[in-house]
Amino acid sequence: MLAELEWQIEAGADEAIGDVADMRNWKGLAAKAQPAIQQPATPIPFPAPATVSTVSPAASAAAARHEHRPAPIPRQVTAETVEALRAEIAAFDGCPLKATAMNLVFADGNPAAPIMLIGEAPGEDEDRQSKPFVGVSGKLLDAMMAAAGFDRTNTYISNILFWRPPGNRTPTDAEIASCIPFVERHIALINPKILVLLGGVSAKTLLRTKEGITRLRGRWADYTPQTDSKLTTPIPCLPIYHPAYLLRQPNAKRQAWNDILMLKKRVIESNILITNT
Ligand code: URA
Repeated sequence: MLAELEWQIEAGADEAIGDVADMRNWKGLAAKAQPAIQQPATPIPFPAPATVSTVSPAASAAAARHEHRPAPIPRQVTAETVEALRAEIAAFDGCPLKATAMNLVFADGNPAAPIMLIGEAPGEDEDRQSKPFVGVSGKLLDAMMAAAGFDRTNTYISNILFWRPPGNRTPTDAEIASCIPFVERHIALINPKILVLLGGVSAKTLLRTKEGITRLRGRWADYTPQTDSKLTTPIPCLPIYHPAYLLRQPNAKRQAWNDILMLKKRVIESNILITNT
């Protein structure tokens, strides 16, 4: 059993995302060692059953609550401050990812900054530390931004999703839809001069397009919200490659650097004041 577990961890299945173990591959062992553990009569549709079960009872109960109904989408976000928004998201149970994540990952950086970056979803390190972009891809992003004079004292960073998808899988449309009203209010409250969209999920979601990041990156666009009425003017936004993609495709770093230079040029030409506070 230990060898099987090690094999799964090596293959990337390093997270428990269900509340019962899936014994499909362990039949003989399971019959002897685990007679009390049964598969549920009705399969749990979300989250998907996991191979290893270590989810806390609280998370299990939360997952069970989502068993037979679609995630509710908040009709209206009421927060009028960034801190109130964080509290409103923390109290929201409509995104099923909350049941499997360890922590809410809200934002990092300077809320008064003129540049707001939006990534996809927290990964393992972010989930542990409750802060966006603190893992390897965050380190690469920090290095690229620093080379152009930006850091987390003069930028603000968040994600489309506020909880880690199990095993870092791509978020589903329903998960994204449940978080979008919060993201839109987040942008409206920060009201940055420029939005930087990190990667395809962020760019496609906020620009409401099916075009891929390869086509979208390096081209300025206007962000307008879909549901939130607080923002009154569109915000210029620049989609760029996600740093995790650059780690897998280092050849794309040259394009990403050009995009950061485009950002810098726009900041200078628009007389946007960058102060490190
Ligand atoms: N990737 C993201 O999109 N966001 C994070 O916070 C970390 C990695």
